[in-house]
Amino acid sequence: MPESFDAHWLHQRADADAAARAERPYRALAAWAGGAAAPLRCVDLGCGLGANAAWLAPRLPGPQHWLLVDHDPALLAQAGRRTLSDATGAPAAAQTRRTDLTGDLAALTHDTHLITAAALLDLASSAWIDRLVAACHSNGAAAMFALTYDGHFASETPDAPEEYLVREAFNKDQRRDKGFGTALGPDAALYTARAFRAVGYRIRLGRSPWRLGPASADLQRALVDGKAQAARNAASDNRLAIDCWVHRRHEAIDAGTAHLRVGHLDLFAAPPGSP
Ligand SMILES: C[S@@+](CC[C@H](N)C(=O)[O-])C[C@H]1O[C@@H](n2cnc3c(N)ncnc32)[C@H](O)[C@@H]1O
Repeated sequence: MPESFDAHWLHQRADADAAARAERPYRALAAWAGGAAAPLRCVDLGCGLGANAAWLAPRLPGPQHWLLVDHDPALLAQAGRRTLSDATGAPAAAQTRRTDLTGDLAALTHDTHLITAAALLDLASSAWIDRLVAACHSNGAAAMFALTYDGHFASETPDAPEEYLVREAFNKDQRRDKGFGTALGPDAALYTARAFRAVGYRIRLGRSPWRLGPASADLQRALVDGKAQAARNAASDNRLAIDCWVHRRHEAIDAGTAHLRVGHLDLFAAPPGSP
């Protein structure tokens, strides 16, 4: 079964995602796109509310055609109501498609120049990522995979023993099957980079952490509760430590002193032979 994501959560994280994106991979993407075909055909896998396409479209030159793909019809309906704009401010063409990404990836991405996703790779298994890389390669497509969780999160008191336990348990839960087979979780971005390199792609990786402070209290509360729930699922014998961590985090958030850094990686892969 594919994992479900709440629209409210995706709204909540959108600003932090936009602020976090690493610079280097997008410079490489823009340089590649400058020499790519027009209109540029792009597919956003696991598009959710369409935030990734909405962020990328104005950073790509020239006319574009976007295909936004998700299994969740409610998220897809909201994504379809967005207007995407290219770098000139002109509307970019976009359509949505309801599909389970574990199906025929080659058909879904056929004739595409840019294959992208945000906050998706960590849900996927090595076998699925191998198929994704093969689909990119057979199209000669570039790939931009943003905001893949890298296994690190830390508050302003990262050496607290409960935080270590919560992180370990959360990272264990990250490897649970989310519909793609056993998930790579924190290893997904580097696994993907190696798989692209093996077929001749040039890779640009950049860190894209959320750096959340007191102004992001609501997002921090949601993250703390979400991470704790996942950690309890993975390590039920550590419930006391997890509850203690939650209590301390909520205290700090309520006092306006809480900071939380959540690590991600952004990856751009340029196809072999591209300038
Ligand atoms: C963490 S959310 C990211 C959404 C969006 N890319 C963003 O950055 O806000 C993961 C998305 O992948 C979608 N998804 C997960 N498994 C899927 C599957 N097997 N097939 C299609 N979509 C899937 C979810 O519905 C969700 O919209």
